[in-house]
Amino acid sequence: MRGIILAGGAGTRLSPMTAVLSKQLLPVYDKPMVFYPLTTLMLAGIRDVLLISTPRDLPQFQRLLGDGGQWGLALSYAAQPEPGGIAQAYTIGADFIAGQPSCLILGDNIFYGAGLRHLLGEAAARSTGATIFAYQVTDPQRYAVVALDGDMKARSIEEKPERPASSWAVTGLYFYDAGAVDLAANLMPSARGELEITDLNRAYLQRGLLRVEPLGRGFAWLDTGTPDSLIEAAEFVRTMEKRQGFKIACPEEVAYRMGYIGSGELATLAGKVGHGPYGDYLRRLLV
Ligand code: DAU
Repeated sequence: MRGIILAGGAGTRLSPMTAVLSKQLLPVYDKPMVFYPLTTLMLAGIRDVLLISTPRDLPQFQRLLGDGGQWGLALSYAAQPEPGGIAQAYTIGADFIAGQPSCLILGDNIFYGAGLRHLLGEAAARSTGATIFAYQVTDPQRYAVVALDGDMKARSIEEKPERPASSWAVTGLYFYDAGAVDLAANLMPSARGELEITDLNRAYLQRGLLRVEPLGRGFAWLDTGTPDSLIEAAEFVRTMEKRQGFKIACPEEVAYRMGYIGSGELATLAGKVGHGPYGDYLRRLLV
């Protein structure tokens, strides 16, 4: 299975923080935002990852993440010259996907909760159809909204509806079978001129191939789109990390625990980070 992180866009709502820096490189407490979606893919068992960003920001992502080999991953990069919509990841990434199933995650989406790895693994193991994740929110009109029947099957899906049919927002994490590239190639731009991921999901729904996985109250799905939500996400991560002493979304740790790297490689990485809370944390994982 291939993974795609979509980390482009103008970051307008976070301006001027994003004037010279990609939104997805801004810190969320103690690490860059992109570490969160990257480790979500890693927890799903995905090691082949394409990162898509703007021509301006790609070099900085490459400097931060390299070829991924340090974490047992194969990372590649592609440019999205203009923000033409989330589903454009499937035209830009068509060659990379190479006829395989794939998982797309938005570079500003943070997921946390017990059992997440299990849910991700199940979604990754399905070879037909699409799996999306729904989360109840108080402001569904800001997201894609899915209406569910009694069996939690999707009845309809709508992008940023004025009158939401439910409080179930569609999160920015999507698993698709090998058919996604062809379906995305046939999408037409929406009224706002974007290739909408919701239209791709609707194409699966119309074929009876859209599975909705509800994320219950034990999960956190955090937003980072505004200065307030960015600091709230950072506070959440800080609170959890301080209380338990475990880091959230530490790629070195996830790589080690998933068996992508061994203790020798982890020790080398810890040495490179040097002394400070992050390096000390990595060293503690080894004892
Ligand atoms: O976060 C979940 C929501 O993400 C979904 O519920 C919506 O269906 C989906 O459209 C999206 O809504 P947003 O309002 O968050 O979309 P936005 O345009 O802000 O894009 C989300 C991220 O993807 C953002 O960090 C920038 C990046 N992006 C977006 C577009 C349109 C790109 O890299 N390229 C793009 O062309």
